[in-house]
Amino acid sequence: MNLGQTLIASSSDTLAHTAAHLVASWIQEIVAQNRIARIALSGGSTPRAMNRILAGLPLPWASTEWFWVDDRFVEPQSPRSNLGAARTDLFDRLTVSPQAIHGMPFGPDIQACASTYEEILKKSFVLPGPGAGPLPAFDLLLLGVGDDGHTASLFPGDPSIDEVNRWVIPVREAEGREARLTLSRPVITAAKRVVVLAQGASKREPLRRAREQGSLHEIPSRLVQEVQGELFWLLDTSAAGY
Ligand code: 6PG
Repeated sequence: MNLGQTLIASSSDTLAHTAAHLVASWIQEIVAQNRIARIALSGGSTPRAMNRILAGLPLPWASTEWFWVDDRFVEPQSPRSNLGAARTDLFDRLTVSPQAIHGMPFGPDIQACASTYEEILKKSFVLPGPGAGPLPAFDLLLLGVGDDGHTASLFPGDPSIDEVNRWVIPVREAEGREARLTLSRPVITAAKRVVVLAQGASKREPLRRAREQGSLHEIPSRLVQEVQGELFWLLDTSAAGY
């Protein structure tokens, strides 16, 4: 059971700066080992300030490949798109292009889009594919936590949390929530370094429950306890309960 390491920032602004500089240092560390840094981003509102700060840091962008942990199944131009937000906050601000930016696809067939993203992972990580052999292990994978305890697009009560053969899963739409694509639980937990980024008092309870023993169907963010690599909780004082 991985309980991880916790870093608490005194404000949401300090959290964004601290997170950006930590991500930058980890990327520099990976590239210094002559490797491509493969990073998977989550969406939502919390990472946006961090991404805007990260865009201004001197990084070896050409040695980075960017992916998504999940995205809403919408056009990239949609205001709901995680890819669209990251383009606005991060990638469109860079003067040096990353080696690759692999947004999650959108199209008429969500199952086909999930398979397409699995093919992208197979090619980038040079692996045989889902269901057989090793999993894609991201160098750095960022997660948020929903007020209901979800993470990625693995929601309470949804069977997606149980899917362990596929790498990318279509998640059906539900009340007040569009369909999604998400990395599966095994791919998330195979990451070499997972960072849970959360701010605000509304995250206090879901974060507390995420650290408890209990059902993943009830609180899917409990899956971080299965992370095989390093686990970090980057929180502001409000989310940490101080
Ligand atoms: C998404 C995210 C999702 C997010 C949490 C927290 O697509 O919405 O990937 O898992 O991380 O819902 O979102 P906030 O940062 O907006 O609280």
